[in-house]
Amino acid sequence: MAALRILPDIYSVGAVDWKIRSFHGHTYSTNRGSTYNSYLIIDEKIALIDTVLGSFSQDLINNIREIVPIEKIDYIIANHVETDHSGALPEIMKLCPKAKIFGTKNCKEGLYRNYYGNWDFQVVKSGDVLKLGKRSLTFLEAPMIHWPDSMFTYCPEEQLLMPNDAFGQHYATAERFDDEVDSCALMDEAEKYYANILWPLGSVILRKIEEVQKMNLPIKMIAPSHGVIWRRDPGKIISSYISWAKNETRPKVVVIYETMWQATEKMANKIVEGLIAGGVEVKLFDVGTADRTEVIKEMFSAKGFLFGSSTHDNDMLPNIAGFLEFVKGLKAKSRLAAAFGSYGWAGGAVKEIEGVIGESGIELAQPGLGVKYVPDENEVKLCYEFGRNFAKKIK
Ligand code: FEO
Repeated sequence: MAALRILPDIYSVGAVDWKIRSFHGHTYSTNRGSTYNSYLIIDEKIALIDTVLGSFSQDLINNIREIVPIEKIDYIIANHVETDHSGALPEIMKLCPKAKIFGTKNCKEGLYRNYYGNWDFQVVKSGDVLKLGKRSLTFLEAPMIHWPDSMFTYCPEEQLLMPNDAFGQHYATAERFDDEVDSCALMDEAEKYYANILWPLGSVILRKIEEVQKMNLPIKMIAPSHGVIWRRDPGKIISSYISWAKNETRPKVVVIYETMWQATEKMANKIVEGLIAGGVEVKLFDVGTADRTEVIKEMFSAKGFLFGSSTHDNDMLPNIAGFLEFVKGLKAKSRLAAAFGSYGWAGGAVKEIEGVIGESGIELAQPGLGVKYVPDENEVKLCYEFGRNFAKKIK
């Protein structure tokens, strides 16, 4: 994608990755692709804000060269160490070795430990200002949104916030602005991004948003490092982040199961009938075939989770076990859960699932339901009641 002027003398010079379908070491399905955004500010001093994934270095270099000879870059702002934003730095630094890099103390260490470059690096702190000429850049440390090195960069003269990963979306588009794309798809990707990457960091995010709000910084445009730029109503994505960070949920239950010979699946289907009769919104997933990134997004807005598994070697099946391990890391707050599953003789899956629910800090809302082999007529009714009872707790 060619360079695009987003404001007077400010250009989007990053890359669109149409092909990527798996991100972060296969922890995130990027079904709509992604972008690695980088911004170039032309003033008395020329500044590049973030770079791109290393394999897209040449795209970035070509885009910068459309605007200015690359060796004229004076400053590079490294808002974040992660290689999807810093991967092109070694190539850029070969072409403009005199450029000075600005970032947090943790960024300095992180960049060195990734690239071992002998680069001119200036550590900055919240409130530090870098004058470019007519414009300036103010830095705002944002540790754990989402790495310890993370930082936001703000240009007050343009009321432009460049918050790196925050407010981003894995969304590859030819268009660069929120008002040019399908708003449902955009918000779907923004929520999915939050749920899968930022869910455990709600309290940090709320504190940071409050801090920025107290600073009374006017924000006309938010240019994140993934996806499209928010210019129509930047307040909308900020409000969404506040609501998400507060763990606001709705009466919705996500049922996720793994089944060996379809008895647990039969239970899941009957439980879903009970949930629906109980008046709650329901989503049902077989963990073996579902896209985990989508399931996590659905769980994010749900008040309740029901996890099911057949018993195998006195334990749950391996796919649901791996899924629950991921869920544990999300540190979900204010959610209710319960377990169910079929077994052949000794059982064990329900107890093991309940153990993980406890370790996850999720409230166990009702005793688990285990059924020997295939549920009979009476046990089918129990499954239905299991769903109805859980629905009552959710509402
Ligand atoms: Fe988009 Fe934390 O990297």
